[in-house]
This record gives sequence, C-alpha cells and structure tokens, in this order.
Amino acid sequence: MKAFSLSLPASSANIGPGFDSVGIALNRYLTLEVTKNNKWEFEHHSYLLPSFSDFKDHFIYQIARRVAKKHNKSLPTCKVKIDSEIPLARGLGSSASAVMAGIELANQLCNLSLSPEEKLNYGTDIEGHPDNVAAVLFGGFVITVKTLDEDIDYFRLPALNLDVVVYIPTFELKTEDARKVLPKSFPRKDAATASGISNLVMASLISGDFDLAGKMMERDLFHEPYRAELIPNYHLIKQTAKKSGAYGTVISGAGPTMISFVPKGDGENIANQMKTLLPAYQVEALLIDFKGIQVKLAAE
Ligand code: HSE
Repeated sequence: MKAFSLSLPASSANIGPGFDSVGIALNRYLTLEVTKNNKWEFEHHSYLLPSFSDFKDHFIYQIARRVAKKHNKSLPTCKVKIDSEIPLARGLGSSASAVMAGIELANQLCNLSLSPEEKLNYGTDIEGHPDNVAAVLFGGFVITVKTLDEDIDYFRLPALNLDVVVYIPTFELKTEDARKVLPKSFPRKDAATASGISNLVMASLISGDFDLAGKMMERDLFHEPYRAELIPNYHLIKQTAKKSGAYGTVISGAGPTMISFVPKGDGENIANQMKTLLPAYQVEALLIDFKGIQVKLAAE
C-alpha cells in the first residue's frame, strides 16, 4: 500500500432556506496522513479533535469499516495521523468531514473505485441529510436532494463572487438538539412560501443578484425562526453585519455559528468591524473552497 493523505473542507449547510439540501465548502480542513502499519493506530494532532480510547471506537475507523464491509472487504492495518481546523458541534460540518474521511479511507484502502454518487449516497445515509456531505465531496456551493424514491441528485453552482464571515461562539450546540425544536410538519401554505423563498435565493445566487439573495436568505421559514432562540445575539449579528456591508447572514447549519455572505474581498474588513461587537466570539473571514475532498499519494 502506498502512503496517501486526505484533505476535507469544513462546510456550512442550509444557507437559510435551503434546509437540509444546500451546502457550501469552506477553507478550514480536516487532514489525514495514512501510512501502512502492522496494527491500527490513530494519532490526533489538534485539540479540536474528540478523544478516543481504542482504535475500534474511532468515528472515522467505524465509518471506513462499515463501507468496506458493504463491499465484502476488510481494511488493511494503517497508521492515521489526523489534524483539524474545524471546531466540533459549531455548525461547520465537522461530522460531515469525518464521515466523508471514513468513506474515502475505505475507498482508498480497499480500492473500491466508488463513484461520486456512491460516496454521496453513503454520506447521506450516515449523516441523515446530504447538504454538508455534498459540499465536502464536491467543494463550492452544492444543492442536493434525495427524493422519496431514494434517487439522489445534485447541482453544483458556478463559482460565486462571494466571501464569508463566520461568528463562532464558545459553546457547542448538537445538531440533534437543534433539530428537536423544529416542527414535525408545515401547513401547505407555509411550505409553499418557504420553498418559494428558497427558490429565489438559488436563482438570485446563480444570476449574481446578491442583494436579492441576501434579503431572501434572511427570510427562511423552515428552521431559523425556531432555532433563533437557541442562538445568543442572533438578531444583533444579522443587523450589524448588514450595516457593515454583508448581503445576508444566516445560521451555519444547525448553529450555533452564524455566517455572513459578503462581497468578494470585503471579508477581512467586515470581520474586523464585527470583532469589536463580539469580543467573545471567534470571528473569521473565510473563503469558499472549490476543491472538495483531495487525495494525494505520497512521493516515492
Ligand atoms: N441541515 C442540517 C440541519 C445541518 O440544519 O439540521 C446540520 O447538520
């Protein structure tokens, strides 16, 4: 087996009304260096990674094993060094990056030659929704849906002239808890309005009308009205970011991070203005990652 490395971007799901179907990849990374070894070993090189006691309990190992098993293969033993820039349980897709890392690990170690659709399908089954995993896999801005007949389709938007600013609070919010506050169903009229808003966001993003996109992304009816109460400074961040020049600000995934979409090149300036308002937050100007998962074979 040849040594290789994997790099997987962070991601932000929903972008307001694209609930459970829209994701964007961001330039913060989970990286794995994989080498042949006579036993399984995981080595963590970032305080952002969760602790584990035995390799069998390692989340990425468990995913890789599950995928290998589906193809009737067993994983060869390896040493995996992991580094991460993605904070846990903050709405920046740490779990989706880890899931896709496990899938890609199995793909590489067992020579499965999985297609992008197969990887997306596995990732969606494990995560429960395709938004983050599609962004991690393809990079950029991706719309994905798994229809009720289990057909999975995706569309990758053309490169957008946008940067983002994220506001990461110190506390964690588990997706599971942030989903509990959502209604089980929506009246047809509300669902029609909510999907109309979502359609407008996507159409205006594709056509480059970012003012309209920003306005509409802040009008979500699917999840933000219910989650706002879980997120301190929700309204303040939105209003101040708008005044500072952001097109629109939404909850990143299930929160508690919030994310602003800003004109290309204005990220640092807007982040600096917002830092004075939010001294306890990690406020960062980030870029959209357009590469998705990267696999690199080590040099001979
Ligand atoms: N679409 C998901 C949610 C993203 O909002 O619950 C979090 O994993």
